[in-house]
Amino acid sequence: MLLDTYGRTATDLRVSLTDRCNLRCTYCMPEEGLDWLKKSTLLTDDEIVRLVRIAVTHLGVREVRFTGGEPLLRPGLVSIVERCAALEPRPELSLTTNGIGLEKVAPALRDAGLDRVNVSLDTVDPETFHRLTRRRRHDDVLRGLAAARAAGLTPVKVNSVLMRGINDDQAPDLLAWAMEHDYELRFIEQMPLDAQHGWTRRDMVTAEEILTSLHTRWTLTPEGDGERGSAPAERWLVDGGPHRVGVIGSVTRPFCGACDRTRLTADGQVRNCLFAREETDLRAALRAEPGASGESDGSDDSAAASAAGDLRVAELWRTAMWGKKAGSGIDDPTF
Ligand code: GTP
Ligand code: 5AD
Ligand code: SF4
Repeated sequence: MLLDTYGRTATDLRVSLTDRCNLRCTYCMPEEGLDWLKKSTLLTDDEIVRLVRIAVTHLGVREVRFTGGEPLLRPGLVSIVERCAALEPRPELSLTTNGIGLEKVAPALRDAGLDRVNVSLDTVDPETFHRLTRRRRHDDVLRGLAAARAAGLTPVKVNSVLMRGINDDQAPDLLAWAMEHDYELRFIEQMPLDAQHGWTRRDMVTAEEILTSLHTRWTLTPEGDGERGSAPAERWLVDGGPHRVGVIGSVTRPFCGACDRTRLTADGQVRNCLFAREETDLRAALRAEPGASGESDGSDDSAAASAAGDLRVAELWRTAMWGKKAGSGIDDPTF
């Protein structure tokens, strides 16, 4: 189990498959991109599958989400999904993507065992899309979304970040569009995660503002008992249902107390929180092993060494999670 000192258990693993992206969302990265990780520091496909296997078989992880950067840029994605789907117990497998290229690969991902996708799309207007992402790929995303739904990667969820003065007046248009196409829309409060450190609380469109703007067109009632458990999204039924809308108020309505997540960066570091600055290097642990290919070559000696290596990695991972802080620390003045 991946337990922390506050009694939370991480059963949901988020694996970044690359730090690269083909968009440049202003709330994420600068026009010139980031100082990309060198290929030699990225986990190999074998290392990723091995770490997921360790998480599933030794650490109680039940859900695995592939993220990025943009995970569809990872050449081995379909095979990684296929190999993770073959693990016992089989984890639930999902992908968070910007949707570019999904049109082509959605059926193969479904066949490989992917259960569902979340697609980021902040606007229904191509010009606003260009302003927000600095790329003209709006249509690719729409086609990717349609392909995901057609392939049965459902429910298809859409993540929208609202930016003041850019798309903050588009929440009702986005919801009307999402309901028409049967996508489950979730609005996300902008978080201080951009590489440029330009985030300000004043500029953030809050969950409350988003709900107020939706209330101008619809009646929203909390879904179920209104409890979200470990899910970041609070959900409302739109005009009594069946459509619903979610709001992820990571800043003003944090869900840290119920957090069940552990994260693996593309270069093999465990982070116990989205906002954690400390990392635990599992890649180094894997590569320090004799043989260090990631998987056993089939001999008895190699299998025993590999099994012992798995246990050591699992122990490092447990220790990393034990140190998880109570909250994100956004409210800390030194953040
Ligand atoms: P579902 O299982 O489909 O509900 O996925 P999800 O909403 O957890 O995942 P997704 O990758 O779509 O993330 C959507 C948003 O959730 C992100 O943009 C973040 O705002 C928020 N989020 C995801 N993980 C964390 C986390 O560990 N901490 C916080 N504070 N927010 C998170
Ligand atoms: N604040 C909120 N959401 C963000 N995302 C990326 N950067 C930020 C940010 N600074 C969203 C993406 C994607 C999800 C994984 O995170 O739009 O939907
Ligand atoms: Fe790419 Fe996602 Fe960052 Fe946008 S938010 S630039 S789609 S990684």
